Amino acid sequence: MPYEMIVTETDGAVAVIRLNRPESLNALCDQLMSELADALRGFDSDKSIRCIVLTGSDRAFAAGADIKEMQNRSWPETGLDDFIGKSWEVVTTTLKPVIAAVSGYALGGGCELAMMCDIIIAADTAKFGQPEIAIGVIPGAGGTQRLTRAIGKSKAMEMILTGRMMDAEEAERANLVARVVPAADLMPETMKLARRIAGMSPVALLQAKRSINAAFETMLAEGVRYERASFLPLFGTPHQREGMAAFIEKRKPDFS
Ligand code: HXC
Repeated sequence: MPYEMIVTETDGAVAVIRLNRPESLNALCDQLMSELADALRGFDSDKSIRCIVLTGSDRAFAAGADIKEMQNRSWPETGLDDFIGKSWEVVTTTLKPVIAAVSGYALGGGCELAMMCDIIIAADTAKFGQPEIAIGVIPGAGGTQRLTRAIGKSKAMEMILTGRMMDAEEAERANLVARVVPAADLMPETMKLARRIAGMSPVALLQAKRSINAAFETMLAEGVRYERASFLPLFGTPHQREGMAAFIEKRKPDFS
C-alpha cells in the first residue's frame, strides 16, 4: 500500500523504515502504526532482506502514542477496539533482526516501540522516557515490563512514576541501549551494523534471535497482559481526560 506516514527504502539486504510525521514529532497514530506493521510484514517475508532498521527524524524517533487521537477514548471501547493491539505487536513478531536507530525523543509509546526492537543504537541527542503518568495513564505497549527488564526495578520505578527523561549517556549506562554515537554518525554506524548482521546466516540469525528472546521474554507475555488490563480502563477516567486535555491546551494538568 502507498505510505503517507513512513518512508521505506532498501540498501542491499538492509531495509530502512523511517517514521515520517514531523508535524507531531512522529506521534504514533493508528494509521502510522498500521503502515509500519504493513512494511514490517512485507520486509519480513521478502527473501532479499536480512535486517531491518527502524528510525525517525533528528528531533524525534517518536514522542509517543498520539495523544490527540486517544484523548477521548473510554473503557470498554479501548478493549473492544483492540487499542494499542495487533499492529503494535508486529515488531515483536518480526523474524528478522530489527535495529532501532534513535535520535531525539523516544517517549511513551516511542520508547516502547524502540524497546520492542532487537537492538537500540542511540544518537547522543536521544532522550528516552515513559511520561504517561503526567497525562493520567501508564505505559500500555509493554513499557512497564520491558523497561524494568532492561534497567531494573528501582530505575524503572523512578522513570515511570515521575515521567522523567533519560539522556543517551544514562541510557547506555543503564543498559537500555547497545551503543551511543554522535548524532551525525547515527545512520552510517547503524547501517554498518545492519550490513554486518545481514551478512550472517539467516537461519542462524533466526535461531539466535529466538533464543535470546526466550531468555528475555519468559513470563513477559503475562506481564504485558497484566499491564494491558491496567492501562485500558484508565481511558475515560477524569485524570486521563484532564491530563490529555492539558497537554493539548498547553497547560499544567490539575490532578487534584
Ligand atoms: C500528539 C504530539 C505528541 C504526542 C508531540 N506532539 N507529542 N501530538 N501526541 N504524543 C505534537 C505537539 O502537540 C505539537 O503539535 C508538536 O507535536 C510539537 O510538539 P511541542 O510540544 O510543541 O514540542 P516541544 O516543546 O519541543 O516538546 C517536545 C516534547 C513534547 C517534550 C516531546 O511534545 C511532549 O511532551 N510530548 C508528549 C510526550 C508524551 O507525553 N508522550 C507519551 C504519550 S502517551 P502542535 O500542533 O501543538 O504544534 C503514550 C501512551 C502509550 O505514548 C500507551 C501505549 C502506546
